[in-house]
Amino acid sequence: MKIWLDSADPAEIKKAVEAGLCDGVTTNPSLIAKAGGDNATIIPKIVEVCDAPVLAETLSIDADGIVSEGKELAKISSNVVVKIPMAWDSLIAVKRLSQEGIPTAVTLIFNATQALLAARSGATYIAPFVGRREDISEEGAQAIAEMVDVYQLHGLPTELIVASIRGPLQVKQAALAGAHGVTVPFGVLKQMAEHPLTAAGIAKFLADAGKG
Ligand code: E4P
Repeated sequence: MKIWLDSADPAEIKKAVEAGLCDGVTTNPSLIAKAGGDNATIIPKIVEVCDAPVLAETLSIDADGIVSEGKELAKISSNVVVKIPMAWDSLIAVKRLSQEGIPTAVTLIFNATQALLAARSGATYIAPFVGRREDISEEGAQAIAEMVDVYQLHGLPTELIVASIRGPLQVKQAALAGAHGVTVPFGVLKQMAEHPLTAAGIAKFLADAGKG
């Protein structure tokens, strides 16, 4: 299962790369703004520290605009994947970009019918959001499991990168559902490595060895 970093901060992406835990990076306009720039200034810095797919999101809402923005983003690096929010015009843009060999990811996916259409239009990846569903008391893990089932039943090659992750439990649920990957904030990645009994065990071993 692939682990993606949900971040636009090159310093923390580098830390995940050092641990062998960065199969790719997902950004969005909010993360890019938080990093203090725009796609043109931040994506090249991410590409420098991570030799893997990097998702860069378009802001246009019409198909022509998305395609031309996507082509500009793809010029930054062969690792750039054009990330496009789910909408009818986006599906047209996905189809056109994929015909030109430019990889795409459809984001803001919340149910299996959206996932099905994105795959049929030729998306390389989809980013189904689990956290934002659960934020409004909608069931999240079941929606992901349904999308995985649809892709498996119909042999669709699009990869699911489960997004909008709030904590390790959602990662476990995505893994058990058979998702191809998850994208996690760096803080969640660190949490995934922790358990209170692990910390207590290390402290006891050090104390028993006279080094506590
Ligand atoms: C990644 O592709 C998404 O943009 C991201 O996971 C959204 O996360 P959020 O719901 O925490 O903003």
